[in-house]
Amino acid sequence: MPRLRRLAAALFVTLALAPAAEAWGPLGHSVVAELAQRHLSPAAKAEVLHLLALDHTQSLADIASWPDEIRNDPNQQALWKETRPLHYADFHNPNCVYVAPRDCKDGKCVVEAIPHYVAILSDRTQTDAARLQALKFVVHFIGDIHQPLHAGYRDDAGGNAYQVQFQGQGMNLHRVWDSGLLSTRGLGWKAYADRLDAEGPAPLPPPIAPLDRPVVQWAEESCQITHDIYPANHKIDQAYIDAELPVADSRLREAGRRLAEVLNIALQNG
Ligand code: ADE
Ligand code: ZN
Ligand code: ZN
Repeated sequence: MPRLRRLAAALFVTLALAPAAEAWGPLGHSVVAELAQRHLSPAAKAEVLHLLALDHTQSLADIASWPDEIRNDPNQQALWKETRPLHYADFHNPNCVYVAPRDCKDGKCVVEAIPHYVAILSDRTQTDAARLQALKFVVHFIGDIHQPLHAGYRDDAGGNAYQVQFQGQGMNLHRVWDSGLLSTRGLGWKAYADRLDAEGPAPLPPPIAPLDRPVVQWAEESCQITHDIYPANHKIDQAYIDAELPVADSRLREAGRRLAEVLNIALQNG
């Protein structure tokens, strides 16, 4: 193979195999989904089960990572490309005040994606297939917006460009927060959800003015958290884990509680 072609092929393989950096990993998304499912109203629960039946499952945890999984499905490449920017919002100022035209160009970010898909899910004139797909996006994106680095302010692709050492390996900070930190508990999603649920209802952070758009507040909270999570020495040591795992747990609990509230409103009777 000519050298340039070989280089192009190697580059393609490298990019294709690059770890997905689009979300809490499957563990975090399933925990959020499971926490929410346990706190659904009877009407919302029935409607969720009705939609999930199309996919032959009864568990939101099973579908919570689908918006990431389509990345690897040859038949879903158009949808993946279209929805790829919807997993995050980058603030471009450390004051963490959301400015839509700056932080969500053309409405393509997680802050605007959530109400978009909630509207489809709530609309009983839509097909069940469309509403199930919207449900998958709502479950996933309400998880993502609570992952602090999915709504940070540094121009480093949500910590993807910030290298750290974790468990003797080089890794980026984004991946530590998507999956590395949570994996240190050594629990599966059900046991993890049991553990968080046993602490009772998640206390919610105090309101941030102007109060008109809760989704904006969720992103602004994430942005504020990112002020404190960049280790200056680029090392994820035990002290870092002890300090930050409770922060990650709180975000999972808040996401689970808020997801349940959103679904309970979107899926009220009729
Ligand atoms: N790419 C750019 N910003 C990102 C973020 N905050 N999270 C994930 N991927 C990104
Ligand atoms: Zn995601
Ligand atoms: Zn991510």
